[in-house]
Amino acid sequence: MTTHTLPGAPFVAYKHNELFIEGVGLSSLAQQHGTPLFVYSKASMLDALGAYQRGFLGRHAHIHYAMKANSSLGVLQVFAQAGCGFDIVSGGELARVLAAGGQASKVIFSGVGKTRTEMTYALQQYILCFNVESEAEIDVLNEVAASLGQRAPISVRVNPNVDAKTHPYISTGLKDNKFGIAHERALAVYQYAASLSSLDIVGIDCHIGSQITSIEPYLNSVDRVLDLVESIEKAGIPIHHLDFGGGLGINYNGDTPPAADQLWSRLFERLDARGYGQRDIRIEPGRSLVGNAGICITEVLYLKPSDNKNFCIVDAAMNDLPRPAMYQAFHQIIPLQQKQSASMTAYDVVGPICESGDWLGRDRDLSVQAGDHLAVLSAGAYCMAMSSNYNTRARAAEILIDGSQAHVIRSRETITEQIQSEHLI
Ligand code: LLP
Repeated sequence: MTTHTLPGAPFVAYKHNELFIEGVGLSSLAQQHGTPLFVYSKASMLDALGAYQRGFLGRHAHIHYAMKANSSLGVLQVFAQAGCGFDIVSGGELARVLAAGGQASKVIFSGVGKTRTEMTYALQQYILCFNVESEAEIDVLNEVAASLGQRAPISVRVNPNVDAKTHPYISTGLKDNKFGIAHERALAVYQYAASLSSLDIVGIDCHIGSQITSIEPYLNSVDRVLDLVESIEKAGIPIHHLDFGGGLGINYNGDTPPAADQLWSRLFERLDARGYGQRDIRIEPGRSLVGNAGICITEVLYLKPSDNKNFCIVDAAMNDLPRPAMYQAFHQIIPLQQKQSASMTAYDVVGPICESGDWLGRDRDLSVQAGDHLAVLSAGAYCMAMSSNYNTRARAAEILIDGSQAHVIRSRETITEQIQSEHLI
């Protein structure tokens, strides 16, 4: 059998010219479940997780999957069963963790705008830690914990002011970003937090951005954080865990991020050199665990040639795959059935939504006709999780492949579900 694996997506491959994920052919899946359809590979998720686990051998390091990347219950279940904790940014995400069988005791709560209701819920579930991002939040959390007769475990998210060299919308560790507490002020904030009666300081946290493709920004932030740990501990405040956030990039279009084990071997060298290699380390990866484990299958509805451009109009749109519209992001688009010696035409692949920003790929060489299926690759992260009902489009269905088994982990949304919480006046 001729098998052709795609770069960056090791469990997505052509077999006899048909695209497969693990042991399942995608054409029949599209026929059976309709499109747009997200399909994920469980083996790919576990493979990505395995790279981190290899990098953590012999260390006290823990993975908290940043579920904002893909919070579908079936995906969370894979990571919960593999022993992961979770990084959450809302009370809703905590409810999802619990619904998927995850443990609250392995949950880290990040985000700049936690509400009192969310804090209360998280305290009642006894989560591992709140990553606090401002003095105002520290005061409110202290108050909420006191009212429950509890002490809230906290890390301060520090802003190391390092450039992650990524898209400005997903860069978070620079001074002008809304995230974290400035490096220069961190010690004073730790001293203030230590003076409050309903907080327990358990760690320190940073996260500098997303889709990071080199090691240097991480080395810089490790150094900056360790400088702080030194001064905070010197001031008599012990730091139990060190959380270095997420951010490792994936291969969308020839990108060459380091493998997770390679990255962590370099970071542990630095931690060892500074005497912190046997500390409790926490990380919050999202994209690198799920991004290349998923694709979105879409059907070609119409071909529309024009003087300057040819449009390939498909049934997936910016409500399903918002990254191109939001960040001008590149996702590979390939046919489900490879055609032999077919002639190619350059198309802009666009969705049905009434906006010119509704495009999935520009100038893509394809040999297609109406009724063909295409796969949008690297769609496991920040696609379904960021999807919307714009234009009253239903959210797509999702399938998780495990070997030769295809599990429906989300049914296609119905119009009844879409309008059920609305009321006529
Ligand atoms: N921890 C915190 C505090 C975060 O804000 C994020 C992502 C992560 C962890 C996980 O980062 P990752 O490992 O996935 O890079 N929607 C954008 C990405 C937004 C990332 C937001 N924060 C995109 O589609 O590129």
